[in-house]
Amino acid sequence: MAVELVKNIDWVGYVDWSVRDFHSFDTFRGATYNSYLIRDDKTAVIDSVKGQYALRQLQQIAEKTELSQVDYVVCNHAEPDHAGGLVSLMAHLPNAVLICNAKCRETLSAYFDIGNWNIQVISPDDKISLGSRTLTFVNTPMVHWPESMFTYIPEEQLLFSMDAFGQHLATSERFDDQYDLKTILTEAKSYYANIVTPYSKQVLRTLETAAKIPINMIAPSHGLIWRSNVSQIVAAYQDWAGGRYTPKVLILFDSMWDSTTQMAEAILDGAVQESNNAVQKSDNTVQKSDNVDVQLMHVRRTTLTRIATEMLDAAAVALGSSTLNLQMMPQMSSVITYVRGLKFTSKAAFSFGSYGWAHAGSDHLDRWIEETGWTRLTPPIDAKFRPTSETLKKCRDGGRLLVQAALEKTKSM
Ligand code: FEO
Repeated sequence: MAVELVKNIDWVGYVDWSVRDFHSFDTFRGATYNSYLIRDDKTAVIDSVKGQYALRQLQQIAEKTELSQVDYVVCNHAEPDHAGGLVSLMAHLPNAVLICNAKCRETLSAYFDIGNWNIQVISPDDKISLGSRTLTFVNTPMVHWPESMFTYIPEEQLLFSMDAFGQHLATSERFDDQYDLKTILTEAKSYYANIVTPYSKQVLRTLETAAKIPINMIAPSHGLIWRSNVSQIVAAYQDWAGGRYTPKVLILFDSMWDSTTQMAEAILDGAVQESNNAVQKSDNTVQKSDNVDVQLMHVRRTTLTRIATEMLDAAAVALGSSTLNLQMMPQMSSVITYVRGLKFTSKAAFSFGSYGWAHAGSDHLDRWIEETGWTRLTPPIDAKFRPTSETLKKCRDGGRLLVQAALEKTKSM
């Protein structure tokens, strides 16, 4: 059902309640593909939806206007979750001109047969008058793909931000003030961590541009529309793109026969103890609000999506793996491959793990820490078969180091 943003501007997207895997992103709350219909002297559609849902989008457009009345379809981003439906849209909207930038045209031509589409390539200086409203454009390369752009209506101070500021969240509500804000921000953070993090430099540039225009409402291509908490989501993006740490320690591990689990738990004990000590030192430099969030995650019991979300603003990380066939455990290997691609800012870290006759798991992780450019807090902590009491003490000491490093990194920001 179409939902009005402001007079004669409606949401006409698709809520995907059932999707649980969005190219490996764990969408356990579902997703939405947002599209918008602007009716003025001229009529424009902003973005499409996934290809298989295009007819549902067309039904929503048809509730509001004759399909032959649509003059423009704007493509802000050529990724198939927004452009897949263009094939149906351009076939069913006989008078529509597709508006996109040159890079987007090139990408669309690689995906689809666009020979019959009427395309107008625009540049950031172009404006398209719809009557009482004007479409203006801001190129935002690599937020999320090279062709990405924002569309902005100055008369409404309304920004169509495609992926930026989005969340994977299926709901019957459309606006940020109709749903639990903490959940929206959590999903926005997860979206940022798993999709946007590698492009944080470009995000900072985009935020500088966005700061020059007044924004009353942000209508992203995923999730809820920001109309009451615009400054909050923009500030959150400043923090995430700026690599701002929170006093958080993550202990990630995988274990074969419980030995590495025992080591992880000893690291946790040391970290929690140090965190509590830090609170008690509140007469010095560390205040109660500096209490450290310490989290233990078995990497085969959680998802890459969740790990990346927690990793985004964590200041210190311990990575643990038993040795298996002279390698680390396979899921830990997936974790570090995924995390490296996301290019998180440098963390303080160390590795740990048990082994039988030849140790390798913690060594591989130690090398990864060094190669990734993170700060190595201590050499690997190893245990032959079972951790001795001396090894567990080393683990607790390692936990303390993590907390100290997390507080230090957080203070310096
Ligand atoms: Fe939602 Fe980059 O596509």
